[in-house]
Amino acid sequence: MIRYFFLMVLLYFCNVFDLKMLYSSPYILAIESSCDDTAAAVLKGRRILSNCIANQNVHKAYGGVVPELASRAHQSNIVPVVEQALKKAKINKKDLNAIGYTQGPGLMGSLLVGNAFAKSLSLGLDIPLLDVHHMQAHLLVHFIDDSRVSTPEFPFIGVTLSGGHTQLVWVESHLKMSVIGSTLADAIGEAFDKCGKVMGLAYPSGPEIDRLAQTGNPNRFDFPIPKVSGYDVSYSGVKTAFLNFINKNTNKDADFIEKNRNDLCASLQKTLIQIILLKIEQTVTDRKTFRVAIGGGVSANSEMRRQLQKLAQEKGWSVHLPPLDYTTDNAAMIGITAYFKYQKKLFGSLKTVPKARLAF
Ligand code: KG4
Ligand code: ZN
Repeated sequence: MIRYFFLMVLLYFCNVFDLKMLYSSPYILAIESSCDDTAAAVLKGRRILSNCIANQNVHKAYGGVVPELASRAHQSNIVPVVEQALKKAKINKKDLNAIGYTQGPGLMGSLLVGNAFAKSLSLGLDIPLLDVHHMQAHLLVHFIDDSRVSTPEFPFIGVTLSGGHTQLVWVESHLKMSVIGSTLADAIGEAFDKCGKVMGLAYPSGPEIDRLAQTGNPNRFDFPIPKVSGYDVSYSGVKTAFLNFINKNTNKDADFIEKNRNDLCASLQKTLIQIILLKIEQTVTDRKTFRVAIGGGVSANSEMRRQLQKLAQEKGWSVHLPPLDYTTDNAAMIGITAYFKYQKKLFGSLKTVPKARLAF
């Protein structure tokens, strides 16, 4: 009898120990397909074992993402990218404990490819599915176990700066976030890309503007900073002002862009950054929380990073900038978000949500 008792106690502790191990360090396959990058990553707990991306160059000729072409490219890329991620992580798919994927927001046709793939694999392997919100994931890169990452304490002000979103987010915990301000029209990345197109730059022109601006004069041209109440921002005014300015000057001199490209890039970039920095400053002051973490493609912008660091130094804030490979769309960010959901057993539904809102 007593032997059975000890055996039961032993079994109980083994079980608890095993489950704890499983929940603190699961192997998660993550898939991102919200726009024009097909990405897959494998994580063990909060550590990234592989982070692979297949970029879609097909859109360059069109000056923007063509949804139907993006969806087709995801279909051809998804299997090789997932295989590459598993191989790089030295993991067999049978060892996976869960699958995370981008549920939304994004392009319907693009999301559906990742959604259908993740759903089928989770059914086939009989492991849980984890729905991930793309914008939440952009902010949670700050919690990846990586020596290059500086993790903020809660609560902090998260700022999403991407091609489709510009948001000020009040972050209370990994999964408790609320949007306190956002763009009224275009996102900051969209403004970079559309103004770049006006100057004849290839899509996406954000990185190219960043590069050309390095040798330009940011004080050469003035573009308007809109007055928007509260914590919202607007990028449509500056975009229109830029377009009108270019049209007016190229009518007088056909080589105007050619002759002034770097100064135009530097001056435009300065204005786009200033618009969001003013709102960040206002939010930090009002909320009295001096921790700011940025995420999304435009958080890769070198001037944005410099200006934010400068402001933080002047004001005594702590500012958290993601490593460059975690800024633009990637699957590591989907994996870390899936990890936090897995820990809380927030297993997924099978819906696709192209207009998913960041409110929890
Ligand atoms: O987060 P992301 O990869 O995709 C979305 O979720 O939208 O962001 C893409 C955006 C594009 O608009 C791209 O031009 C911009 O990020 N971007 C940059 C830089 N790198 C990417 N914008 C300015 N400077 C950069 N270095
Ligand atoms: Zn994104």
